[in-house]
Amino acid sequence: IKDSRALVHPPPAPTNADDEQQVDEYHKRRADWQLALLGHLKSLEAKEMVTFTSQDELLYTLTKEGGQIAREGSQEYRVWAALPAGGEQGKTMDQLKQELGADVLKIGQGKAFAKKWARKDPTSPGSLARMAGVDNVTDETADDLRQVRATGSLDEKKVADLKKRKLVNQKKLLWFTISKGPNFSLTIEKLITDLSSDLLHSGAWKTAPFKKYNFDAEAALPATGALHPLLKVREEFRNIFFEMGFTEMPTNRFVESSFWCFDSLYVPQQHAARDVQDTFFIKDPPAAKHIPEDYLKRVTDVHEVGGYGSTGYQYKFSREVTEKLVLRTHTTAVSSAMLYELANQKGGFKPAKMFSIDRVFRNEAVDATHLAEFHQVEGVVADYNITLGDLIGFMQIFFAKMGVTDLRFKPAYNPYTEPSLEIFSYHKGLGKWVEIGNSGMFRPEMLRPMGLPEGVNVLGWGLSLERPTMIRYGINNIRDLVGHKISIENVERAPAVRFP
Ligand code: PHE
Repeated sequence: IKDSRALVHPPPAPTNADDEQQVDEYHKRRADWQLALLGHLKSLEAKEMVTFTSQDELLYTLTKEGGQIAREGSQEYRVWAALPAGGEQGKTMDQLKQELGADVLKIGQGKAFAKKWARKDPTSPGSLARMAGVDNVTDETADDLRQVRATGSLDEKKVADLKKRKLVNQKKLLWFTISKGPNFSLTIEKLITDLSSDLLHSGAWKTAPFKKYNFDAEAALPATGALHPLLKVREEFRNIFFEMGFTEMPTNRFVESSFWCFDSLYVPQQHAARDVQDTFFIKDPPAAKHIPEDYLKRVTDVHEVGGYGSTGYQYKFSREVTEKLVLRTHTTAVSSAMLYELANQKGGFKPAKMFSIDRVFRNEAVDATHLAEFHQVEGVVADYNITLGDLIGFMQIFFAKMGVTDLRFKPAYNPYTEPSLEIFSYHKGLGKWVEIGNSGMFRPEMLRPMGLPEGVNVLGWGLSLERPTMIRYGINNIRDLVGHKISIENVERAPAVRFP
């Protein structure tokens, strides 16, 4: 076809088939040419001028060393050939080195020994001799390489060995079978890509040749910002909560007092979670301000002597410990502050359903599934006469909205809930029950000092945002999801998430 003739011309064949460098160059240019040809064929195919199919074929060429062996024989053959016939007489290493060169001698000697073509001369130390009577050998390596040079192909197993020894190179040949298409022609018609007002006015659009849409073409990525997968999953959770009538709690306090993070939740001041090993403590400022004094007094009492039917922990409550600032270890610190507000709001307590999704911090060993910071999804429901049955029923509805239906509950322990339940779901991919959340009925020791009226119970539950996100996006290592090592490209290309 006229315009492209220059482009589809193959490179000239090598003038000397023994010149490995020339042959190699030729094959490189030929590969480029094949790709160019493929491009032209595709565009002709799009215009329905031709149809074509292509097949691959592997072709082998000799490397420089391979070429030398094909011409002069393998190193072992050359060592053997340099030795006197019969095997009674040897030749000194020095002389062999002079005749063959140090490299050929070194490689060839070992191989000739291994093939039992040569040995150390028993009568003269420092000399080599043929094995007695071995005056006829087949130099298979050289024969194989000669076949490769002549035909470009060889038995697969032999080729693998020659490739490993860097004696042959592998090339890929493309073959095209081309036929005329319905619009075959010897000139290329320029196809119209845009419908213009001229075409419409003149009526030319009725017969004009339009370029077909290529629905397989990949669209360019728009240069915009992108939501991180965690934010997408968070949005899904938020929508589930809103759908269920929840309001969102303010979570904009990463730094929290031990009072709200632990003491108001009836976590004893000696609890392991409050160890520096599990919690990040803040040095500066040294202490929290603004802890409501009357409420602090009631919390102190419930820890020290109990009340509301409890004997308390029977230890001396420390004001210094409660004022210590921490990076919050769970969003239940927020729930606690909000429940306190709910109890003390103008007009008194009203039933409420509240949720939060935000970051928490734990001083833990970091591995493939744990970071020192992660996100918690948490919900609390406060109302008169709520029971454990409500908690279980509620969990079933909540998780069903994420497409998780098989739930099991296992008794657990939290200082602030009784009973406490770990929530498990059957993971079909892993073939086992996995923990997906923690929940419970908040204890009267926590609720009553807040001022929540008698008869009001609160259920609560929490889960991580990272785990469902990793499952949803098939991510195995948390560091691929959060932190400085994540690939921006994956974030940009992450599909929108949707729980079924
Ligand atoms: N705070 C708990 C955790 O960090 C979750 C939880 C919230 C449990 C509310 C019960 C009630 O695992």
